[in-house]
Amino acid sequence: MAVEEEAETQKREYEHLEDLPGVGPATAQKMRELGFNTVESLATAAARELESAGIGEKKALEIIRAARSSLSLSFVRADELLKLRQTVLRLATGSKALDELLGGGLETQTITEFYGEYGSGKSQVCHQLCVNVQLPPGQGGLNGGVLYIDTENTFRTERIVQMAKNLGLDPESVAKNIIVAEAYTSDHQMFLLEKSDSIIKENNIRLIIVDSLTAHFRSEYIGREMLASRQQKLNKHMHRLIRLARAFNTAAVVTNQVMAKPDVFFGNAVHPIGGHVVGHTSHTRVFLRKSARGPVRIARLVSSVYLPEGERVFKITENGIEDIGEDEEPTRRR
Ligand code: GTP
Ligand code: MG
Repeated sequence: MAVEEEAETQKREYEHLEDLPGVGPATAQKMRELGFNTVESLATAAARELESAGIGEKKALEIIRAARSSLSLSFVRADELLKLRQTVLRLATGSKALDELLGGGLETQTITEFYGEYGSGKSQVCHQLCVNVQLPPGQGGLNGGVLYIDTENTFRTERIVQMAKNLGLDPESVAKNIIVAEAYTSDHQMFLLEKSDSIIKENNIRLIIVDSLTAHFRSEYIGREMLASRQQKLNKHMHRLIRLARAFNTAAVVTNQVMAKPDVFFGNAVHPIGGHVVGHTSHTRVFLRKSARGPVRIARLVSSVYLPEGERVFKITENGIEDIGEDEEPTRRR
């Protein structure tokens, strides 16, 4: 009984048919002959269909159930969705104003995207979150570690040390709780995320960062004819991230550069890379830009499922991400 319960709660991801419990090469072969080549397709199968390949009803039901649990949350009932929402936690950014913009901090189980031009503060926000997530929930953290996929070699432990000291934390133990994985190509980046579930579990990871989500894709997939495959890969990558965030109740952050695009009404406007694919899977998109005052940054909530759009300012200092002082209100236009 206890074992059964554990099996219920322990959601696993199965990559191949043969990974499913009770499925050997022969059973897998039978299922393939029926057109079930993937765990995903099996999750939507009816036991009856498998029976026609000579798989007993009980076993068929077990296989389908395992396949569904592997997809974890792709198919959920509305009441289950509500239950899931109630387990959403919040991660503080270091700036109360920015937290307020986000409805109380970054949410777990969803992807938050920070986009903006060079030097707008995307990586700095990521660094600050790496430290904050280690705080207890009462102080805006999630009592957990970080998986930081660094694609541009911009992660700096020195910066973490500064920020940790500012919060009165032991810099060495803070640094120990951050697992940095450098991604050399977009394929490598995808591979790292695909192989990360055991790392996340074993290290109590509560924040997954991909900084930058799009840089490799942008430099490797050039030209119109490669656009479709780039978008397909990005889509897959983002879905992998959202599934991990849901399965482990972690916060997930991606950063994104912008490109200038002629706009009919506003002249040259900037748009995040990745278009609809990234937009539809990032539940919260925050546009960061510099202000006329050096350390001050303007954050605009561009899209969120349920929060109103709005703007707030914060600053980047020696200490990290902070609220601005009363006398530091920036000139909004740059
Ligand atoms: P790209 O990755 O190049 O697209 O930019 P980004 O948006 O990631 O920019 P990033 O977060 O790296 O911001 C860099 C800016 O943060 C610098 O230009 C500084 O203004 C500020 N900054 C970074 N480190 C420090 C620091 O130690 N002290 C202070 N005061 N500011 C810092
Ligand atoms: Mg950066």
